[in-house]
Amino acid sequence: MKLLTAAQLDATLAHTRQIGVSNIDYDKCSQELIDHGYSILTIPVHLQKDFWKTVELYPTISGTSKREFAYPDRTDGFMPFGMEYANSTNNVDLCERFCYRDKYRSDHRQHAFADHQFYRHIVDFESGISAIAELVLANIMQKFSIAEPLETRSSSYLQFCAYNKEYRKQDREYLQDRHEDGHLITFVKATRDGLVIFPNGEQQRVILADDEIIVFTGSLLTEMSDKRIPYMDHAVLNPAVQVERSSLVYFVIPELKRKYTSFIERRHLDLEKIANENHESFGNIPFTVTAEA
Ligand SMILES: [Fe+2]
Repeated sequence: MKLLTAAQLDATLAHTRQIGVSNIDYDKCSQELIDHGYSILTIPVHLQKDFWKTVELYPTISGTSKREFAYPDRTDGFMPFGMEYANSTNNVDLCERFCYRDKYRSDHRQHAFADHQFYRHIVDFESGISAIAELVLANIMQKFSIAEPLETRSSSYLQFCAYNKEYRKQDREYLQDRHEDGHLITFVKATRDGLVIFPNGEQQRVILADDEIIVFTGSLLTEMSDKRIPYMDHAVLNPAVQVERSSLVYFVIPELKRKYTSFIERRHLDLEKIANENHESFGNIPFTVTAEA
Protein backbone atom coordinates (compact mmCIF):
# COMPACT_ATOMS: atom_id res chain seq x y z
CA MET A 1 0.00 0.00 0.00
CA LYS A 2 1.39 3.38 -1.08
CA LEU A 3 1.15 6.22 1.42
CA LEU A 4 1.38 9.85 0.38
CA THR A 5 4.63 11.37 1.58
CA ALA A 6 4.62 14.71 3.42
CA ALA A 7 6.15 16.32 0.33
CA GLN A 8 3.39 14.91 -1.92
CA LEU A 9 0.71 16.15 0.47
CA ASP A 10 2.31 19.59 0.58
CA ALA A 11 2.42 19.67 -3.22
CA THR A 12 -1.29 18.73 -3.43
CA LEU A 13 -2.26 21.40 -0.91
CA ALA A 14 -0.13 24.03 -2.66
CA HIS A 15 -1.82 23.14 -5.95
CA THR A 16 -5.31 23.46 -4.45
CA ARG A 17 -4.42 26.85 -2.93
CA GLN A 18 -3.10 27.98 -6.29
CA ILE A 19 -6.33 27.10 -8.10
CA GLY A 20 -8.53 28.36 -5.25
CA VAL A 21 -10.33 25.18 -4.26
CA SER A 22 -8.91 24.92 -0.74
CA ASN A 23 -11.77 26.83 0.96
CA ILE A 24 -14.25 24.00 0.49
CA ASP A 25 -15.37 22.06 3.58
CA TYR A 26 -14.24 18.64 2.29
CA ASP A 27 -14.93 16.95 5.61
CA LYS A 28 -18.60 18.01 5.59
CA CYS A 29 -18.98 17.17 1.90
CA SER A 30 -17.56 13.67 2.22
CA GLN A 31 -19.71 12.90 5.28
CA GLU A 32 -22.86 14.04 3.44
CA LEU A 33 -21.97 11.82 0.48
CA ILE A 34 -21.44 8.85 2.77
CA ASP A 35 -24.68 9.43 4.70
CA HIS A 36 -27.04 10.84 2.06
CA GLY A 37 -25.45 10.35 -1.39
CA TYR A 38 -25.26 14.05 -2.25
CA SER A 39 -23.75 17.34 -1.15
CA ILE A 40 -23.77 20.95 -2.35
CA LEU A 41 -20.45 22.78 -2.58
CA THR A 42 -19.43 26.37 -3.14
CA ILE A 43 -17.05 26.78 -6.08
CA PRO A 44 -14.55 29.61 -6.62
CA VAL A 45 -15.36 32.53 -8.90
CA HIS A 46 -12.98 31.43 -11.66
CA LEU A 47 -14.85 28.12 -12.05
CA GLN A 48 -18.20 29.93 -12.12
CA LYS A 49 -16.76 32.12 -14.87
CA ASP A 50 -15.51 29.09 -16.85
CA PHE A 51 -18.97 27.55 -16.59
CA TRP A 52 -20.83 30.62 -17.88
CA LYS A 53 -18.24 31.16 -20.62
CA THR A 54 -18.79 27.63 -21.96
CA VAL A 55 -22.55 28.32 -22.04
CA GLU A 56 -22.01 31.62 -23.85
CA LEU A 57 -19.52 30.21 -26.36
CA TYR A 58 -21.14 26.88 -27.24
CA PRO A 59 -23.41 28.42 -29.93
CA THR A 60 -20.32 29.88 -31.68
CA ILE A 61 -18.88 26.41 -32.45
CA SER A 62 -19.07 25.59 -36.15
CA GLY A 63 -20.74 22.52 -37.59
CA THR A 64 -17.38 21.54 -39.07
CA SER A 65 -15.75 21.50 -35.63
CA LYS A 66 -18.63 19.42 -34.29
CA ARG A 67 -18.19 16.89 -37.09
CA GLU A 68 -14.38 16.78 -37.04
CA PHE A 69 -13.61 16.99 -33.31
CA ALA A 70 -15.56 13.83 -32.59
CA TYR A 71 -14.08 10.68 -31.06
CA PRO A 72 -17.12 8.76 -29.80
CA ASP A 73 -15.14 5.49 -29.61
CA ARG A 74 -13.24 6.92 -26.66
CA THR A 75 -16.08 9.11 -25.25
CA ASP A 76 -14.25 12.26 -26.28
CA GLY A 77 -15.17 15.39 -28.27
CA PHE A 78 -18.60 15.92 -29.83
CA MET A 79 -20.82 12.88 -29.49
CA PRO A 80 -23.60 11.89 -31.91
CA PHE A 81 -27.06 13.02 -30.80
CA GLY A 82 -29.09 10.07 -29.54
CA MET A 83 -26.09 7.86 -28.76
CA GLU A 84 -26.70 8.00 -25.02
CA TYR A 85 -29.93 6.88 -23.40
CA ALA A 86 -31.26 5.96 -19.98
CA ASN A 87 -30.42 2.32 -19.30
CA SER A 88 -33.72 1.85 -17.45
CA THR A 89 -36.06 3.00 -20.26
CA ASN A 90 -33.94 3.25 -23.45
CA ASN A 91 -35.28 6.81 -23.92
CA VAL A 92 -32.51 8.87 -25.53
CA ASP A 93 -31.18 11.92 -23.70
CA LEU A 94 -32.60 14.99 -25.46
CA CYS A 95 -29.35 16.93 -25.57
CA GLU A 96 -26.16 17.48 -27.54
CA ARG A 97 -22.99 16.32 -25.77
CA PHE A 98 -19.39 17.41 -25.79
CA CYS A 99 -16.96 15.30 -23.74
CA TYR A 100 -13.51 16.34 -22.62
CA ARG A 101 -11.02 13.78 -21.35
CA ASP A 102 -7.80 15.20 -19.97
CA LYS A 103 -5.90 12.04 -20.97
CA TYR A 104 -6.29 13.04 -24.65
CA ARG A 105 -5.22 16.67 -24.17
CA SER A 106 -2.04 16.29 -26.25
CA ASP A 107 -4.04 14.67 -29.11
CA HIS A 108 -6.48 17.59 -28.99
CA ARG A 109 -3.65 20.07 -29.57
CA GLN A 110 -3.30 18.66 -33.11
CA HIS A 111 -6.74 20.07 -33.91
CA ALA A 112 -7.61 23.76 -34.47
CA PHE A 113 -10.60 23.38 -32.14
CA ALA A 114 -8.14 23.28 -29.20
CA ASP A 115 -7.67 27.04 -29.79
CA HIS A 116 -11.40 27.77 -29.49
CA GLN A 117 -12.26 29.73 -26.34
CA PHE A 118 -15.00 27.22 -25.49
CA TYR A 119 -12.40 24.44 -25.38
CA ARG A 120 -10.05 26.58 -23.26
CA HIS A 121 -12.70 27.23 -20.62
CA ILE A 122 -13.58 23.53 -20.62
CA VAL A 123 -9.90 22.73 -19.95
CA ASP A 124 -9.73 25.26 -17.11
CA PHE A 125 -12.95 24.02 -15.51
CA GLU A 126 -11.74 20.42 -15.68
CA SER A 127 -8.48 21.39 -14.00
CA GLY A 128 -10.35 22.89 -11.03
CA ILE A 129 -13.12 20.32 -10.68
CA SER A 130 -10.71 17.38 -10.94
CA ALA A 131 -8.71 18.81 -8.02
CA ILE A 132 -11.92 19.17 -5.98
CA ALA A 133 -12.93 15.59 -6.86
CA GLU A 134 -9.57 14.21 -5.74
CA LEU A 135 -9.85 15.95 -2.38
CA VAL A 136 -13.45 14.82 -1.84
CA LEU A 137 -12.50 11.20 -2.56
CA ALA A 138 -9.34 11.38 -0.44
CA ASN A 139 -11.50 12.61 2.45
CA ILE A 140 -14.02 9.79 1.99
CA MET A 141 -11.23 7.21 1.95
CA GLN A 142 -9.69 8.70 5.06
CA LYS A 143 -13.01 8.07 6.83
CA PHE A 144 -12.71 4.40 5.87
CA SER A 145 -9.02 4.36 6.97
CA ILE A 146 -7.88 3.65 3.40
CA ALA A 147 -4.46 5.17 2.87
CA GLU A 148 -4.07 4.07 -0.74
CA PRO A 149 -4.44 7.04 -3.13
CA LEU A 150 -7.25 6.82 -5.67
CA GLU A 151 -6.22 8.11 -9.09
CA THR A 152 -9.14 9.40 -11.11
CA ARG A 153 -8.21 12.26 -13.42
CA SER A 154 -7.02 10.26 -16.43
CA SER A 155 -10.17 8.07 -16.50
CA SER A 156 -12.69 10.80 -15.68
CA TYR A 157 -14.38 13.17 -18.10
CA LEU A 158 -16.17 16.48 -18.25
CA GLN A 159 -19.35 16.66 -20.33
CA PHE A 160 -21.15 19.73 -21.64
CA CYS A 161 -24.84 19.05 -22.32
CA ALA A 162 -26.95 21.37 -24.49
CA TYR A 163 -30.66 20.70 -24.07
CA ASN A 164 -31.67 22.82 -27.06
CA LYS A 165 -35.32 23.76 -27.42
CA GLU A 166 -35.79 21.85 -30.66
CA TYR A 167 -35.04 18.51 -29.00
CA ARG A 168 -37.82 18.82 -26.44
CA LYS A 169 -40.60 16.27 -26.85
CA GLN A 170 -43.91 17.18 -25.27
CA ASP A 171 -44.87 13.68 -24.17
CA ARG A 172 -41.74 12.99 -22.14
CA GLU A 173 -41.75 13.41 -18.36
CA TYR A 174 -37.98 13.86 -18.37
CA LEU A 175 -35.39 15.20 -20.81
CA GLN A 176 -33.10 12.60 -19.28
CA ASP A 177 -34.80 9.68 -17.56
CA ARG A 178 -34.12 8.52 -14.00
CA HIS A 179 -30.83 6.65 -13.64
CA GLU A 180 -27.67 6.48 -11.58
CA ASP A 181 -24.35 7.11 -13.30
CA GLY A 182 -22.43 3.98 -12.30
CA HIS A 183 -19.30 6.02 -11.51
CA LEU A 184 -17.71 7.08 -8.20
CA ILE A 185 -19.13 10.59 -7.94
CA THR A 186 -20.65 13.12 -10.37
CA PHE A 187 -20.63 16.94 -10.24
CA VAL A 188 -23.41 18.92 -11.98
CA LYS A 189 -23.74 22.65 -12.63
CA ALA A 190 -26.59 23.87 -14.86
CA THR A 191 -27.94 27.15 -16.25
CA ARG A 192 -31.39 26.57 -14.80
CA ASP A 193 -33.31 24.15 -12.60
CA GLY A 194 -34.64 20.83 -13.88
CA LEU A 195 -32.24 18.41 -12.20
CA VAL A 196 -33.97 16.17 -9.67
CA ILE A 197 -32.46 13.62 -7.29
CA PHE A 198 -34.15 10.77 -5.45
CA PRO A 199 -32.87 10.59 -1.86
CA ASN A 200 -34.67 7.64 -0.20
CA GLY A 201 -36.63 7.20 -3.44
CA GLU A 202 -38.43 10.57 -3.15
CA GLN A 203 -38.03 13.00 -6.04
CA GLN A 204 -36.41 16.25 -4.90
CA ARG A 205 -35.63 19.33 -7.02
CA VAL A 206 -32.05 20.62 -7.01
CA ILE A 207 -31.89 24.40 -6.71
CA LEU A 208 -28.37 25.83 -6.78
CA ALA A 209 -27.09 29.36 -6.17
CA ASP A 210 -24.71 30.85 -8.74
CA ASP A 211 -21.66 29.82 -6.72
CA GLU A 212 -22.87 26.28 -5.98
CA ILE A 213 -22.44 22.88 -7.58
CA ILE A 214 -24.01 19.56 -6.59
CA VAL A 215 -22.02 16.36 -6.22
CA PHE A 216 -23.69 12.96 -5.84
CA THR A 217 -22.61 9.35 -5.63
CA GLY A 218 -22.65 6.50 -8.14
CA SER A 219 -22.78 2.75 -7.71
CA LEU A 220 -19.02 2.23 -8.13
CA LEU A 221 -18.60 3.97 -4.80
CA THR A 222 -21.41 1.87 -3.34
CA GLU A 223 -19.53 -1.23 -4.51
CA MET A 224 -16.20 0.00 -3.14
CA SER A 225 -17.73 0.84 0.23
CA ASP A 226 -19.47 -2.55 0.62
CA LYS A 227 -22.83 -0.75 0.24
CA ARG A 228 -22.14 1.67 3.12
CA ILE A 229 -22.43 4.63 0.68
CA PRO A 230 -25.74 4.86 -1.21
CA TYR A 231 -25.84 5.75 -4.90
CA MET A 232 -28.02 8.60 -6.07
CA ASP A 233 -30.65 8.29 -8.80
CA HIS A 234 -31.30 11.49 -10.73
CA ALA A 235 -33.12 12.82 -13.81
CA VAL A 236 -33.73 16.04 -15.74
CA LEU A 237 -37.34 17.26 -15.79
CA ASN A 238 -39.02 18.21 -19.05
CA PRO A 239 -40.06 21.85 -18.55
CA ALA A 240 -43.66 22.88 -19.23
CA VAL A 241 -42.47 25.47 -21.73
CA GLN A 242 -39.68 25.31 -24.30
CA VAL A 243 -36.58 26.70 -22.59
CA GLU A 244 -32.92 26.01 -23.25
CA ARG A 245 -30.84 24.34 -20.58
CA SER A 246 -27.12 23.69 -20.51
CA SER A 247 -25.06 21.83 -17.96
CA LEU A 248 -21.51 20.84 -17.18
CA VAL A 249 -21.14 17.41 -15.66
CA TYR A 250 -17.94 15.89 -14.32
CA PHE A 251 -17.96 12.09 -14.12
CA VAL A 252 -15.35 10.71 -11.73
CA ILE A 253 -14.05 7.25 -12.61
CA PRO A 254 -11.10 5.43 -11.03
CA GLU A 255 -8.04 4.40 -12.98
CA LEU A 256 -9.25 1.07 -14.37
CA LYS A 257 -6.06 -0.83 -15.16
CA ARG A 258 -5.34 -1.78 -11.57
CA LYS A 259 -6.95 -3.97 -8.95
CA TYR A 260 -8.95 -2.68 -6.00
CA THR A 261 -10.22 -4.04 -2.71
CA SER A 262 -13.40 -2.83 -1.04
CA PHE A 263 -13.21 -0.39 1.88
CA ILE A 264 -14.64 -2.52 4.69
CA GLU A 265 -14.66 -6.23 3.79
CA ARG A 266 -11.51 -5.93 1.66
CA ARG A 267 -13.11 -7.92 -1.18
CA HIS A 268 -11.28 -8.01 -4.51
CA LEU A 269 -13.11 -5.82 -7.02
CA ASP A 270 -12.98 -5.82 -10.81
CA LEU A 271 -13.88 -2.16 -11.27
CA GLU A 272 -12.77 -2.22 -14.91
CA LYS A 273 -15.46 -4.76 -15.77
CA ILE A 274 -18.17 -2.99 -13.76
CA ALA A 275 -17.32 0.49 -15.09
CA ASN A 276 -17.24 -0.74 -18.69
CA GLU A 277 -20.59 -2.50 -18.33
CA ASN A 278 -22.16 0.57 -16.74
CA HIS A 279 -20.84 2.86 -19.47
CA GLU A 280 -22.01 0.52 -22.23
CA SER A 281 -25.48 0.22 -20.70
CA PHE A 282 -26.06 3.91 -21.59
CA GLY A 283 -25.07 3.34 -25.24
CA ASN A 284 -21.41 4.33 -24.89
CA ILE A 285 -18.34 2.42 -26.03
CA PRO A 286 -16.55 0.71 -23.07
CA PHE A 287 -13.74 2.77 -21.51
CA THR A 288 -11.09 0.10 -21.96
CA VAL A 289 -10.49 -3.05 -23.94
CA THR A 290 -10.61 -5.86 -21.42
CA ALA A 291 -8.62 -9.10 -21.59
CA GLU A 292 -11.74 -11.14 -22.43
CA ALA A 293 -12.90 -8.77 -25.20
FE1 LIG B 1 -26.50 11.06 -14.87
